Amino acid sequence: MFRPNNKVFEERREIFLDKLNGKAAIIPGANLVKHHADCEYPFRQDSNFWYLTGFDEPDAIALFLSHKPKGERFILFVAPKDVISEVWHGFRWGLEGAEVEFKADKAHSINELRELLPVYLDGSDEIVFSIGKHPSIEKMVLEIFSQQLQNRSRLGIGANSLKSPEIYLNEMRLIKSEFEIERMREAIQISAEAHELVRQSISSKNNERQIQGLLEGFFLEKGARGPAYNSIVASGDNSCILHYTSNNSPLNKGDLLLVDAGCSLNDYYNGDITRTIPISGKFSSEQKVIYEIVLRAQKTAIESAIVGSNSSKIHNVALITLIEGLKDIGLLSGSTKEIIENQSYKHLYMHRTGHWLGLDVHDVGAYRMGEYEVPLRDGMILTVEPGIYISDRIPVPEGQPNIDEKWKGIGIRIEDDILVKDKKPEILSISALKEISDLEF
Ligand code: GLY
Ligand code: MN
Ligand code: MN
Repeated sequence: MFRPNNKVFEERREIFLDKLNGKAAIIPGANLVKHHADCEYPFRQDSNFWYLTGFDEPDAIALFLSHKPKGERFILFVAPKDVISEVWHGFRWGLEGAEVEFKADKAHSINELRELLPVYLDGSDEIVFSIGKHPSIEKMVLEIFSQQLQNRSRLGIGANSLKSPEIYLNEMRLIKSEFEIERMREAIQISAEAHELVRQSISSKNNERQIQGLLEGFFLEKGARGPAYNSIVASGDNSCILHYTSNNSPLNKGDLLLVDAGCSLNDYYNGDITRTIPISGKFSSEQKVIYEIVLRAQKTAIESAIVGSNSSKIHNVALITLIEGLKDIGLLSGSTKEIIENQSYKHLYMHRTGHWLGLDVHDVGAYRMGEYEVPLRDGMILTVEPGIYISDRIPVPEGQPNIDEKWKGIGIRIEDDILVKDKKPEILSISALKEISDLEF
């Protein structure tokens, strides 16, 4: 049973309420999602709701009422205590738990939401709610908003606009506090150790599924909640499928194995690491050449992940290194500038070089605002994950060389999790080895 570190959550609520500056925010938690028949997927709390409350039950809603006095601003609607439901589905904190353990100024049963929500929203000029994401209560919120608009036109009071909470929360979540950095260190360390376990055990495994079992079993053994996303365990040509998750092919000795996997902790902080290793313990000469290019691109890109840099710079550094390397071995031709302008590298490298990482694996936060590139700052965590994927799936663009059969079926990605710092970025996933000399046996 998760007990929140109240100081952490209280501080976040204070900052959020401050930013709301007179507005009333409705932040819904997640609901259970049906898998089949009477069975549900494991519960996954909504990240914004979690970030502000630390409350890990389905069917809860938080209100943040910055137009009210202190002591009346944080309201939780939760599933009430119910002996029979708890016998079937497990413990609930109930109203008292929400107030005592989770520090709600006031808690109500979720069944009272329709009646009380308009009362709580009264007096605020603006409602903060994310449209399109919470179908179970969106109709109710819009009805209340419509009523408030009418009140405003007749009585001069009532909310007259609807804003998205993301404006405030994305910015807060993008910069990780010391507490969050420590949690991320733990998630990433467990994830890195799982990759090491795969590297050390590869010679005794003969199917992708066994590798998935090894990784995910390790996550659970270490006390994590499980995988942060569907683990990608892709051998041979499967490694050219970016989000391959079938994970059920036999491992062939001459092939590479690409593993993209990370764990999610009990409090939802995530790792996201990719390693590509030779199944036989030896790279073929073609595999080695491609691996060296990707590793070089990744290292140069990581070096550029410092304060003041930005996501596009990191991507471009990786892209140029990949293109130069591919030109050297005859898989691309022409000037690097033109190849980039015409995007004629995209049959070999078709994704961006990284993303923010946090409570969501592809974490929230802007990369650019129109033309303006968001500069990297202390406390940001991002992935750096260039790759090369050689297959027949995307046709070779006009003017680019045909691909000799010897290269096909090679898919390599190397992904690390990086804490942005002033001079030298910190590679949080450093204990997952990636040098060729470490991967061969
Ligand atoms: N594992 C998903 C990603 O690397 O973005
Ligand atoms: Mn990633
Ligand atoms: Mn990944």
